[in-house]
Amino acid sequence: MNNNLIITGARIITPIGRKARKGKEMDQLFDENGTIEITDGKITYVGPDRPVLPEGYKLIHAEGKVVLPGFVDSHTHLVFGGFRPDEFIWRINGDTYMSILQRGGGILSTVKSTRKESFGALQKKTEGFIDIMSQMGVTTVEGKSGYGLDRDTELKQLEVMQAINLDKNRKVDIATTFLGAHATPVEYKGREDEYIDFLISEMLPLIKERMLAENCDIFCEDGVFTVAQSRKLLQAAKEMGFGVKIHADEIVSFGGAELAGELKALSADHLLHASDAGIEAMAANNVVATLLPLTAFTLREPYARGREMIDKGCAVALATDLNPGSCCSGSIPLTFALACIYMHLTVNEAITAMTLNGAAAIDRADTIGSIEIGKYGDLVILDSDTPNVLPYYTGMNSVEKTIKRGRVVYER
Ligand code: NIG
Ligand code: FE
Repeated sequence: MNNNLIITGARIITPIGRKARKGKEMDQLFDENGTIEITDGKITYVGPDRPVLPEGYKLIHAEGKVVLPGFVDSHTHLVFGGFRPDEFIWRINGDTYMSILQRGGGILSTVKSTRKESFGALQKKTEGFIDIMSQMGVTTVEGKSGYGLDRDTELKQLEVMQAINLDKNRKVDIATTFLGAHATPVEYKGREDEYIDFLISEMLPLIKERMLAENCDIFCEDGVFTVAQSRKLLQAAKEMGFGVKIHADEIVSFGGAELAGELKALSADHLLHASDAGIEAMAANNVVATLLPLTAFTLREPYARGREMIDKGCAVALATDLNPGSCCSGSIPLTFALACIYMHLTVNEAITAMTLNGAAAIDRADTIGSIEIGKYGDLVILDSDTPNVLPYYTGMNSVEKTIKRGRVVYER
């Protein structure tokens, strides 16, 4: 089956551009009825319906349906061993995320399970998540390492993602991020600086040489890694050609957003406690503010100031943060609902945040994230004539078909 597809009669809704849309631009979408043509996996026509169609294309009639760019979930930790349901219940009963981590649980508990897990079992579990994501319209996901915190297990996580990317029938592309600085492994307890040096001198060059990750990330947080340690790692990563990202201001206000501005990072993520100066630094330096409302929801924390960030000129992206601890959910529908209900994004802004701005947060805005000639034919068809169902079907799926590079990979 070739990757040639024509969709006619669709209500085509998309942001336009090859970089993140900031501030007021986020609300402005192309919204017209017509045809999309995909040839060999790439978009070759977007415009009014035509009387005569070329031959050799699969045809989908999409009258009365909204067609959007495929969703880009630009922040997840989707490769991990085990689950942590008991911690979730402890937290509901008043324990805190950081105190569980400090007692050797949390991320460190998943590190133990991931070190033990076989490559095959990890790959199977990851593919299971990818199937679920694809059903909710995701065509590209970012995936982080960070549950090995040693040479071999970090490589194992990245190699699982690489193996999935090599499957030519894959439903979702994975943008890979090295998060060796997710926590300090027990072997380095009290020697955080030495651990950062190990990541810089041994891990980054190895990962670069094997082309296992595009980006580098760090958990910059009180009690995890300091701003100075984060600056050191990310500067080194940037010099080696990695895109840089930061888990910033998730638990307390810590200067992560400011650092992201200083480093001109691709994105700063979480930002529940980002300061005013941090918001200004992101807007001024084109850092995508990646908001993860499912994490705030599950941690029972206040949501990030999404409305204010957009009003102050930031480019905001939305992602799920799927992981076994702070947020064991990859729900795209619930992310839309929380973003619109509690962070006060308009539906148009939320669409931009889940498509083009997500693509920019993984440095892929030139090839995905919008429905434009030359980009990959990654699309979502909704079972409705209005995009308002995205937040309105609260936590329920409105996706009828997902299309990956011109192939229908999910059909309701
Ligand atoms: O994005 N905060 C750090 N990392 C993840 C959680 C990882 C975990 O709890 O396993 C996050 O929230
Ligand atoms: Fe995360």
